Amino acid sequence: MKRILIAYATTDGQTRKIAETIAEWIRSSNHEAVVLDTGKNQEMPDGPFDGFIVAGSLHMQKHQKSLIRFVTNNAKALSEKPALFLSVSMAAHGQDERNRAGVRKCIEDFERETGWKAKKTIPVAGALKYLDYNWLTRIMMKRIVKKEGGDIDTSRNYEYTDWDALKREVDAFTSEIPNSG
Ligand SMILES: Cc1cc2nc3c(=O)[nH]c(=O)nc-3n(C[C@H](O)[C@H](O)[C@H](O)COP(=O)(O)O)c2cc1C
Repeated sequence: MKRILIAYATTDGQTRKIAETIAEWIRSSNHEAVVLDTGKNQEMPDGPFDGFIVAGSLHMQKHQKSLIRFVTNNAKALSEKPALFLSVSMAAHGQDERNRAGVRKCIEDFERETGWKAKKTIPVAGALKYLDYNWLTRIMMKRIVKKEGGDIDTSRNYEYTDWDALKREVDAFTSEIPNSG
């Protein structure tokens, strides 16, 4: 049995859904998953852990401050075991090379700020939650998304996360973690 910590931060809930779904997948393969919302609790849970999954989302080109703080404070521990970083964003949706380069830059900023670089980083497409945004955010997001030729029906939410692809990545990561017994 492997014991994996999933530390995440979310602003609008999609990264929480991703973290909790990953925890269910890990548990259903008879491993242990501990989930930490760094926006609520900055304390590293009692170890030992065999691997780490860290996840945050992009808002105005930045990952959450709470995630940056947690990772900075625990960079040494996070570097000692296999680790996967999931960066959730709109820009990871689609094939636009300019958007992909933008995500890579935000990930590099995160690595520079925290002093931590995961062995593997995956940009993950998030969600557009027009129904959940306040009116100002809804107008702003619609304007940004329109420029990109994206989905602008503000009477509904859109989810772009590719769950099958994510599960394949998580399964591969989990199986590659050495079993500490
Ligand atoms: C105010 C706001 C700013 C955003 N800024 C970015 C951004 O700079 N780059 C990007 O790719 N996506 C951006 N997004 C899209 C989010 O990354 C996406 O909605 C993601 O699913 C949010 O995850 P969360 O629900 O865990 O916070 C933004 C979304 C909002 C609402």
